[in-house]
Amino acid sequence: MTPADRDAAACEAGGASVDLRRAYADESPAPAGQDGAGTAGTALLEARDLHHAFGGRPVLRGVDVSIAEGEVVGLVGPNGGGKTTALRILHRALAPDAGEVLLEGRDLGSYPGRERARRIAVMAQEITGEVPLSVADVVLLGRVPHAGAFGSTTEEDLRIATEALEHSGALHLARREFGLLSGGEKQRVLIARALAQQPRVLLMDEPTNHLDIGSQHHVLQIVREQGPATLVVLHDLNLAARYCDRVLVLTDGIVRADGPPAEALTADLVSATYGVTAQRATADDGTAQLLFRGQGPSPEAPAEPTGPRPAEY
Ligand SMILES: Nc1ncnc2c1ncn2[C@@H]1O[C@H](COP(=O)(O)OP(=O)(O)OP(=O)(O)O)[C@@H](O)[C@H]1O
Ligand SMILES: [Mg+2]
Repeated sequence: MTPADRDAAACEAGGASVDLRRAYADESPAPAGQDGAGTAGTALLEARDLHHAFGGRPVLRGVDVSIAEGEVVGLVGPNGGGKTTALRILHRALAPDAGEVLLEGRDLGSYPGRERARRIAVMAQEITGEVPLSVADVVLLGRVPHAGAFGSTTEEDLRIATEALEHSGALHLARREFGLLSGGEKQRVLIARALAQQPRVLLMDEPTNHLDIGSQHHVLQIVREQGPATLVVLHDLNLAARYCDRVLVLTDGIVRADGPPAEALTADLVSATYGVTAQRATADDGTAQLLFRGQGPSPEAPAEPTGPRPAEY
């Protein structure tokens, strides 16, 4: 089935709520690929002593990362600190200069691409190009690593894709053209694709980019509740504190902290890392959160106003 056929079939489904199974009912079922057994209890994905340089400039300098079953791990740090580079190495989009990456205890480089793709889903930082596919097609791409010998879409694939769209709050977009969606809508669809892939490990590079505040929380709730073991790059430290089991702070290619958010995200480390003044606070539900202000005169000692005093009333 071509993308155009899929679009047409999806359009015929009708109704506000799209059932992909109905939209793709003309597809002949094929057996889904079988996946290997898990190794619960150990690190699913582990990187040891990663080193990498671009043009002789070191970007990663001895980075260790581990993601265990059931964990959501946050990767935070300043721009250019090496987060995306580390993530690319963790799914073999890039081979490190030195160090090793183990997936379920086995060298990541020894996995055939398809087997690796069944186990690791990636939501990259950049959305490249205008993809002339429907949303439903984009989500079904997540099923490609599981496809049977003839690569046709199965009933099971459609059920999984529909559920993934539902969970990411994007089912209503199923018949739209992906390339014409807003940035936030695209993010939701890409999350659905990652969920539809049913990986053992999910790697997400700034998945909350473009999203409004409610959607940011929604996305991370989905990851928490529906996702597999996940490594998520975030710039919002308060989202990391709220949704991650562990947070790694990566600065200048070195992991400066790795632990539960309340231990890793100290006011001192955050202040030094980002060149701001950070203050720890506690939300109503007991979650540690951070308040920020730029460096400058402290609120306790405000600078003398230079202009005319406002009228008193
Ligand atoms: N393919 C590349 N070729 C040359 N330099 C690169 C390449 N990819 C990344 N870099 C450089 O490596 C450094 C780390 O980049 P990286 O994208 O890993 O940072 P990041 O922590 O993800 O930053 P951000 O928060 O801005 O996304 C940067 O200085 C970047 O310019
Ligand atoms: Mg990045």
